[in-house]
Amino acid sequence: MPVMVDSVWVTATLLMCVLGGQAVDQLRVTATSRNPPPTPTVHCWSASYPNLTLCSWPEPSLSPPTHYVATYSERQRPKITQQCHLIQPGSPSSHLISASSTSSTSSERLWHCHLPNLKLLTGYIINVTAVYSGGSSSHLSSFMLEDIVKPDPPTDIRVSPIGVRNLLVEWSPPQSWNNLDIFPLKYQILYQRKSRGPPKSLNLGPYESIKVELKGLTQGCNYVFQVCAKELLGLGECSDWSSPVQITIPRTKS
Ligand SMILES: *[C@@H]1O[C@H](CO)[C@@H](O)[C@H](O)[C@H]1NC(C)=O
Ligand SMILES: *[C@@H]1O[C@H](CO)[C@@H](O)[C@H](O)[C@H]1NC(C)=O
Repeated sequence: MPVMVDSVWVTATLLMCVLGGQAVDQLRVTATSRNPPPTPTVHCWSASYPNLTLCSWPEPSLSPPTHYVATYSERQRPKITQQCHLIQPGSPSSHLISASSTSSTSSERLWHCHLPNLKLLTGYIINVTAVYSGGSSSHLSSFMLEDIVKPDPPTDIRVSPIGVRNLLVEWSPPQSWNNLDIFPLKYQILYQRKSRGPPKSLNLGPYESIKVELKGLTQGCNYVFQVCAKELLGLGECSDWSSPVQITIPRTKS
């Protein structure tokens, strides 16, 4: 970093290219003091393709900015900007927001913004600016909707024994994914077997149905199941794993 001189506007630009230039993250800090104000770290994802896209960033707990400005534009038309609709931490509009992103591990306050009506297969740039009394700092990041698809986790995982050593695992699609007919989901199951010895973990699927029968499980063993959801054609990534459900396969008297 260059030495910063008080009362002189200093601009530092940091360019980070990831994966064949697809995701370009650019941070720009404009500051008037020795310590540049913290730049928001912005994360964007589409919890329902194609019409529910959100970005989020944590608010610094020490000296938070006075406010945020969030705008986005198409990469090809940088001059036409639109407002990303700000959602304050803990506000009622957080019904748009997945349970997974709100149950963040830290106690940080998370801001969100909602980007309505994005076009398919179009590059976008979002600019989230934190405004402080002494200056401002912007985070720019670019994305294409198809690359940032990440459903919320499936819910309501149920496991029930069928017969002696078989199990039926069932789940419900994430409620926030609201175009299930046009853009179906596929699912993976993570199962861990706990018995004596080290736990054994296996990834099963993908399955296009919302239930699967598993056969030949070991009696007396404890199994833990989790499910994730991914867009059927493979856009983006699998959701976070659902919360775990466990079952012990009963021993039968032979
Ligand atoms: C997305 O589209 C679905 C179906 O077309 C609609 O029910 C839903 O309200 C839309 N969601 C948003 C956030 O626009
Ligand atoms: C980002 O937004 C801020 C606040 O609206 C603006 O001052 C700045 O010029 C924008 N940066 C770019 C690169 O568009």
